[in-house]
Amino acid sequence: MANLWSGRFEKEMDQIVKEFNASIGFDQRMYQEDIDGSIAHVTMLSAQGIVTEEEGRQIIAGLETIRGQIAAGEMVFTAEDEDIHMGIEARLIAEVGAVGKKLHTARSRNDQCQVDGRMYLKKEMREILDRLCHLEMIILQKAEQYADCITVGFTHVQHAQPITLGFVFMAYFQMFRRDIERLLDTYERMDLCPLGACALAGTTLPIDRHQTAALLGFAAPTENAMDSVSDRDYSLEFLSDASISMMHLSRWAEEFVWWNSQEFSFIDIDDSYCTGSSIMPQKKNPDMAELLRGKVGRVYGDLMQLLTVMKGTPLAYNKDFQEDKESLFDAVDTWKASLAIFANMLEKTTFKTERIAAQFAKGFLHATDIAEHFVKQNIPFREAHAMVGCMVKLCEQRGCALTDLTDAELAGIDPRISKAVLGDISMEACVTARASFGGTAPCEVRRQIETGRAFLAALPRHCYNK
Ligand code: ARG
Repeated sequence: MANLWSGRFEKEMDQIVKEFNASIGFDQRMYQEDIDGSIAHVTMLSAQGIVTEEEGRQIIAGLETIRGQIAAGEMVFTAEDEDIHMGIEARLIAEVGAVGKKLHTARSRNDQCQVDGRMYLKKEMREILDRLCHLEMIILQKAEQYADCITVGFTHVQHAQPITLGFVFMAYFQMFRRDIERLLDTYERMDLCPLGACALAGTTLPIDRHQTAALLGFAAPTENAMDSVSDRDYSLEFLSDASISMMHLSRWAEEFVWWNSQEFSFIDIDDSYCTGSSIMPQKKNPDMAELLRGKVGRVYGDLMQLLTVMKGTPLAYNKDFQEDKESLFDAVDTWKASLAIFANMLEKTTFKTERIAAQFAKGFLHATDIAEHFVKQNIPFREAHAMVGCMVKLCEQRGCALTDLTDAELAGIDPRISKAVLGDISMEACVTARASFGGTAPCEVRRQIETGRAFLAALPRHCYNK
């Protein structure tokens, strides 16, 4: 079969070249956007008198027929089609006859693949924003439920200070909040329409790029035709956003794996989000959390792949750029699935609050709080630090808790300390007192929850599918 571009050629492509050259195997994912873009283009051509209204109507009707056939799975594309743009155009000509040959007036596949790509990605980004917001809602619910529940705060994976579980949830809330903000920022910047840039330099025909941009829901047309066909920054920004967000998911997934271990036993992940072992009958493994931790690798790979493709490419379009799609699609699929899996797993996980309490009761999590208590008695912090250090050493020798030390023992460390001076050093009292802005106290967690709710409520609705 002759290609749509084969006028100046004397030989057909080798079959192996056809296969190597073709992007139809993966870019057919964008067939809806390709047809939407063509309809907007021909609407503009007709409004500008470049094609007649009747020609415009025939082309649009043909494109809608083809859309129906592809959606119904009746259209089989092969390497002969080369890419989705030519696949659809060739079928349009077969469907409506010679008038179909007017569709590709004043455009090129260089701008066409870009308008498809941007529309496709905007659609997927709206879905991802929905999923991030859904995850944030679940986090807020959990934070509320566990605003008062005390747990162990770690640094260096060592018991550090008592914190509330709601506080932990709100820490993750902030990470996903930044993911949302980053994605919105990327979305706003990429919301420009490259259609009409043509091959690289625009056209001599009287097109109206502002009209096609508006018809396709873009904020405006892109500014420079050459940049329009060679820019993949928006994909790179998206892949960076995806990489950072996947990193966040993998960090929490790692905590889930630990919390779920026999040693921690802080949580019980729902059976429906775990798997068993083919040999060890007792096993219930946190495979979803581990897979989430692993999936981040492919998304980092997707980012590296496209950064490397783009490196050193001269202006304007180069065929290298066709390699922009598979990694992008992979990142879209992986991020979307990971967000859904994580949100559901979190929602279905039980937090074993009694078991958590048993863990922190034994240790010295509130040592810093006691030192700060001494500071309030006008003891310099360095001295207070040393005094509590001696109290901890004594407890370790005696195998007891800080609250078990007698007045005589306390006075032996420093005459300024007694049980009365120590006052209430329960974990609850310590956590409640950590009420500095951004601190772990339940009242502070509740303030953070309110700020989080207000953030979600104020998000620009046009960026959402739902
Ligand atoms: N399939 C191509 C891509 O995805 C479309 C643009 C091809 N342009 C060209 N001049 N060969 O990049």
